[in-house]
Amino acid sequence: MSVPVLTIDGPSGAGKGTVSRAAAKLLQWHYLDSGSIYRSLAIAVLQAGVALEDLAAITQIAKAMRLEFDCGEVLTVRLNGVDITSQLATETTGNAASIVAAYPEVRAVLLQKQKDFRQLPGLVADGRDMGSVVFPDAQFKVYLTASAEERANRRYKQLIEKGIDANLLQITREIEERDRRDSERATAPLMVPDGAVIIDSSSLSIRQVIDAVISLVR
Ligand code: DC
Repeated sequence: MSVPVLTIDGPSGAGKGTVSRAAAKLLQWHYLDSGSIYRSLAIAVLQAGVALEDLAAITQIAKAMRLEFDCGEVLTVRLNGVDITSQLATETTGNAASIVAAYPEVRAVLLQKQKDFRQLPGLVADGRDMGSVVFPDAQFKVYLTASAEERANRRYKQLIEKGIDANLLQITREIEERDRRDSERATAPLMVPDGAVIIDSSSLSIRQVIDAVISLVR
């Protein structure tokens, strides 16, 4: 039997990260935060001073980059041996990640890196195309969503709590722009995968969402 996978896809800010990490902990499964792979690539590209339009250079960087993940209490990521964790969550990184992630060549290079996370006793995989492209044969699939307004509010609160200056209107616009780019791209767009259970978290607590996800697996 193949290694069990629970995929959690959905737009940015729907709570995928929190829910996936909690589910992985409760199930004692491994955890793949696929967004952080695209975010790490974006950081590598920005650091190299490469333009976000330069597909050849970006593909080269994607092939050469060495990523190490440490999924402790907080996810720590090292890019070519250097800790980049503090840069992962910024809006600049997220927006650049959404741009580099739209290139099919880039996605092809990063596909195997993601599949490699499928190890016993199981995997919780969080992203946009986990249930549709990376793990289409996953035994459990969730599509977690929430209204753009609610997602912008949550992101705003997170940033303010971290002491990062934020503007709600700008965040709302960026979320809508990111949704559009992630959903309209030709390769592996954000979509409800075949066989996925849709959970709208707009009026649910994190606890309620986690319970719903766990009961799906158990
Ligand atoms: O989930 P996130 O916000 O960390 O993802 C950042 C960007 O990476 C997102 O806007 C689109 C891209 N992404 C993707 O294309 N496919 C995934 N499986 C995960 C993220």
